[in-house]
Amino acid sequence: MDGPRQGDVFGELLRDALAVRTGVGPRPLVGGRLPRPVIEIIERDDGLINGAPAEHYLDGPEQWEPYDHRAVHRASGAVLDVGVGGGRIALALQERGVSVTGLDISPGAVRVAQARGVRDVVCATVDEHVGQGARYDTFLLLGNNLGLLEGRGRAPEFLAALAAMARPGAQIIAQGTDPYGTTDPLHLTYHERNRRRGRLGGQLRLRLRYRELSTGWFDYLVCSTDELGQIVAGTPWRLVDIDNADAPFYLATLRLVGP
Ligand SMILES: C[S@@+](CC[C@H](N)C(=O)[O-])C[C@H]1O[C@@H](n2cnc3c(N)ncnc32)[C@H](O)[C@@H]1O
Repeated sequence: MDGPRQGDVFGELLRDALAVRTGVGPRPLVGGRLPRPVIEIIERDDGLINGAPAEHYLDGPEQWEPYDHRAVHRASGAVLDVGVGGGRIALALQERGVSVTGLDISPGAVRVAQARGVRDVVCATVDEHVGQGARYDTFLLLGNNLGLLEGRGRAPEFLAALAAMARPGAQIIAQGTDPYGTTDPLHLTYHERNRRRGRLGGQLRLRLRYRELSTGWFDYLVCSTDELGQIVAGTPWRLVDIDNADAPFYLATLRLVGP
């Protein structure tokens, strides 16, 4: 048994979800005939496995959560959509005449976003993109992508990279989820185990699976707004607003400190 092969899980998922939605291109079939749903498998390092339909990454505004609409309304100036995925947010901004660049580490996600009409998409990490010299007024971390801060160790570097691409007065709008309202013993035990290891309770260690593919293990941060405030302190950013209207989901707005 060789186990899963490491590959572009997000890219393959999004490609197949797009094929299912449009009816164009090869797509997973049961018995070569019946459509098979495209499911993202999320594996946590305590063994927990969850599945989530991938099609929502392609949803238009009519299917969005209310906080996605509020995030898009707050975006202004030149926007960098970090972890653009299938481009659902970038497309809506483009339609409003907002200048938006999509950034993603997944080559397949970039292809899907382009195929769906996102005009400016870059395949890179934030650290790689800094060197390109582009500057932005708004950074979006949507679809729970506050998680890209990873944890106390990586967050200052990630936020410094965004600051290096920021125009004066720039903002980050990040969607997160407070994990601590749960009463599920599985999650409570996981949070406690994390804390014993010096990690934030909701600092998830995950890998994603799709068909025969897997990502490597990576950290993804799910934190409270108090924890976020502590993480942001000492970085070039200040936490200026929390929109908690859809708790436990929230939108955090960070503003660049400085002249
Ligand atoms: C949870 S999805 C969110 C997609 C999109 N923002 C949305 O709301 O539909 C995460 C996306 O972030 C991308 N991603 C993961 N790590 C990244 C990184 N370090 N830099 C840029 N993009 C990343 C993934 O490839 C994926 O497309």
